[in-house]
Amino acid sequence: MNRTPGFTVIAHRGASALAPENTLAAMRLAAAAGADWVEVDVQFVAGTLLAFHDTTLERTTNGRGPLTALPLAALLQLDAGDGERIPFLWEIIEALGPERGLDIELKGPGTAAAVAALVHRYVHLGWHYSRFLVSSFDHAELARLHRLAPRIPVGALVSRLPVDWGTLQRRLDARSLHIPLALVNKVLVRQAHARGLRVLVYTVDERRHLARVRAMGIDGVFSNDPGRVLGWLGGKAR
Ligand code: G3P
Ligand code: MG
Repeated sequence: MNRTPGFTVIAHRGASALAPENTLAAMRLAAAAGADWVEVDVQFVAGTLLAFHDTTLERTTNGRGPLTALPLAALLQLDAGDGERIPFLWEIIEALGPERGLDIELKGPGTAAAVAALVHRYVHLGWHYSRFLVSSFDHAELARLHRLAPRIPVGALVSRLPVDWGTLQRRLDARSLHIPLALVNKVLVRQAHARGLRVLVYTVDERRHLARVRAMGIDGVFSNDPGRVLGWLGGKAR
């Protein structure tokens, strides 16, 4: 596995500091800000892939109750903030185009098979596998994705230590380790790099945090305001 040169700035849930998270508006603002990659949370609901983080509707929409309790038509009527609606994953892929990287974070069951099928549809249209990255805290779902579609790059999200390097390498063939700001340290970065894994840190919205993790030699950050991070870095990170 090769390490991509350059420091990567990834818009977390789109440019979610500037527009409602995981909406098309947030994705477009992330692209306009020059983010290298855009991260989106994805769930398989009512037979389709929707961009949505929580399991319930209250925090980010004017709906109530579990995401899975409403039929698709009702979900699409909800206000996800500023008049935006919950987007389909395919709309986000189309909005970003074939040049921008998209980190599809699998949230929940059924996502692996549906995402593999959708990515393949775009690959058949001529898009490169390298424009996609599929990540998840759910390593069983990621392993499913990897079995179904071994050419789609995988990133392993972790929320606690120690890292199970064996699973990351053998079961997932992961390209990157996605780790919280609170857990990352120099030794871990060295261990990941020794295994050919890039280290991407979430969520970095403060300049002092960016400086701290950059000094560790990490490869990129997730930020709610990618334009601001790019400014701190002195221009486009690409
Ligand atoms: O992919 C990084 C980050 O999005 C993981 O946490 O809860 O924001 O999806 P969360
Ligand atoms: Mg996420």
